[in-house]
Amino acid sequence: MRSTAETLSEARTAAGTDSVRDYLLAQEKKSLLRFLTCGSVDDGKSTLIGRLLSDTRQIFEDQLAALERDSRKHGTTGEEVDFALLVDGLEAEREQGITIDVAYRFFATPKRKFIVADTPGHEQYTRNMATGASTADLAIVLVDARQGVLRQTRRHSIIASLLGIRHIVVAVNKIDLVGFDEAVFAKIAEDYRAFAADLGFKSIVPIPLSARYGDNVTARSPRMNWYAGPTLIGHLETVAVEDEALALPFRFPVQYVNRPNLDFRGFAGTIASGSVAEGDEIVVAKSGTSARVKRIVTRDGDLKEAMAGQAVTLVLDEEIEVSRGNMLVAAAARPQVADQFAANIVWFDEQALLPGRSYILRTATDQASATVSELKHRLNVNDFAHEAAKSLAMNEVGVVSIATRAPVVFDPFAQNRATGAFILVDRITNATVGAGMILHPLRRAENIHWQSLDVGKRARADMKNQRPAVLWFTGLSGSGKSTIANLLEKKLHATGRHTYLLDGDNVRHGLNRDLGFTDADRVENIRRVAEVAKLMADAGLIVIVSFISPFKAERRMARELMVGGEFVEVFVDTPFEECARRDPKGLYARALKGEIKNFTGVDSPYEAPENPEVRLKTLGRTPEDMVDILDRWLAERDLAEDSYDDGGGI
Ligand code: ADX
Repeated sequence: MRSTAETLSEARTAAGTDSVRDYLLAQEKKSLLRFLTCGSVDDGKSTLIGRLLSDTRQIFEDQLAALERDSRKHGTTGEEVDFALLVDGLEAEREQGITIDVAYRFFATPKRKFIVADTPGHEQYTRNMATGASTADLAIVLVDARQGVLRQTRRHSIIASLLGIRHIVVAVNKIDLVGFDEAVFAKIAEDYRAFAADLGFKSIVPIPLSARYGDNVTARSPRMNWYAGPTLIGHLETVAVEDEALALPFRFPVQYVNRPNLDFRGFAGTIASGSVAEGDEIVVAKSGTSARVKRIVTRDGDLKEAMAGQAVTLVLDEEIEVSRGNMLVAAAARPQVADQFAANIVWFDEQALLPGRSYILRTATDQASATVSELKHRLNVNDFAHEAAKSLAMNEVGVVSIATRAPVVFDPFAQNRATGAFILVDRITNATVGAGMILHPLRRAENIHWQSLDVGKRARADMKNQRPAVLWFTGLSGSGKSTIANLLEKKLHATGRHTYLLDGDNVRHGLNRDLGFTDADRVENIRRVAEVAKLMADAGLIVIVSFISPFKAERRMARELMVGGEFVEVFVDTPFEECARRDPKGLYARALKGEIKNFTGVDSPYEAPENPEVRLKTLGRTPEDMVDILDRWLAERDLAEDSYDDGGGI
């Protein structure tokens, strides 16, 4: 397919009187509106999108037929009209790989081009909607005229508002089914306005329509003479959506360092906001190092100036360190760099958001391990009440504090949609589980710094003449963890090792006294004990941790906290039936009768490790056998001590 540029340059060199080409050129220059549709499942989303696509094609065909008649008059018959010209722009977007779930459909009228995010799916609707909304300027909120404003209508409107959408069309659909009744329409319009008063929308335009029969979609309906407002297309063609990205300070997330040979070194990416000109002073957001822009390189040659949305390679006047994931920014207007901040979160996943669980946080280019350190409140979508909550379920919205392992660069979302948004990704499934909009950095993060200490981990361990380790025992209650851990510690102690045993039941009497057995509490239980184990390893100890630790995500988090080779996952692999038979504390009997809730293996899951360093199959073996296996394993590891990396302490 020919590129837009080629087609256009051909068009430019062609005879100036060619009205079809002039027309296509005009298309290219038209403004673009991005929008999405949302609402309840049966409100008629697909019908409306289908109607928009087919009716606007009709407009085009009529217009083109007229133009072609004109062209014939002017003696330029036989020209083919290249619709690809109109679609090319969209292809480019698609290549940037925005998402797979959401189909972006393209259509145009003589006045404007449109991209509508078609967000299918029922269960996962919020996820798709948030994806589509992240770049949209406007949302069409569909309301079934027979149903009025529903919970879903409210939820989707709140999400649209959180995601930075400022223009709303309330499409009161299926108006034919209520006899084109003005009063029904007026009531819905009023209900919606009252509900959305505080959502920060700049425009709310209610339109009565029938997507099915086309009333008030592209043409005025003769069946609703009482309605004096615009048609849907009429409004979409004229609503003013300013491109705010241009007016914001310069932000350039570095996608990669382009170094084809020794003479050239440039930073490639797409300008997220603002503009940059040759000679401008920029700084590297994370380090604060500054330089000046020497060249702005593009595929079509150098530019003097470039702006938001353009993909460029920047060459600086000095050789400075800028890694992928960092950002080049205007020296005079710098973003925030912090590892703790407050944010709005929209949760998509069937597995609830659990404070303390480690997720991967991704911003425009950067990524870092992150936990929700505090769930401040959940938002009630009906009355905007702030509700206390311990977790966020699928489709819920809340305000949280986030802590990242390394600082990230951002602007508050209210100031910059491109640099203020992030997603959270599940470490195990790799699925996107939530979308976040940053509110502000946390003060407390600004006032806490790492203190460097003179006595290090290595020195502490050397004095004990040992290599620190975290032996992490996981397994069902009654699997034998505590018995084996206890015997192992005794043996290590007898051979002069410095050890400490952290046992679930014991730690739950003190440090974790406040925690129970819900998923959320178990996550926090393991987070705390992993942090304590890390401190003890830093003190040079051999730490034995004996906790059910039923979730893969938290065991992985614990592993990643420790330096390489230090974390040893020991799976005490005893079948459920055997644990229930042994039942040393009588807990299985009670759990099976329903007297204890959330009991691991009964009504709370145990996710067995797939590749533990040591797997202890206890059936038919004695605890002493198990200790021997572990002892041998540790001796072998210590032989390989040369490769020991102490990670430099915490
Ligand atoms: S964990 O899942 O959060 O890692 P932890 O190891 O601290 O659990 O505590 C498990 C111990 O608590 C069990 O050995 C058992 O004695 C006791 N317990 C009490 N209620 C439960 C329950 N609902 N599920 C599992 N263990 C329980």
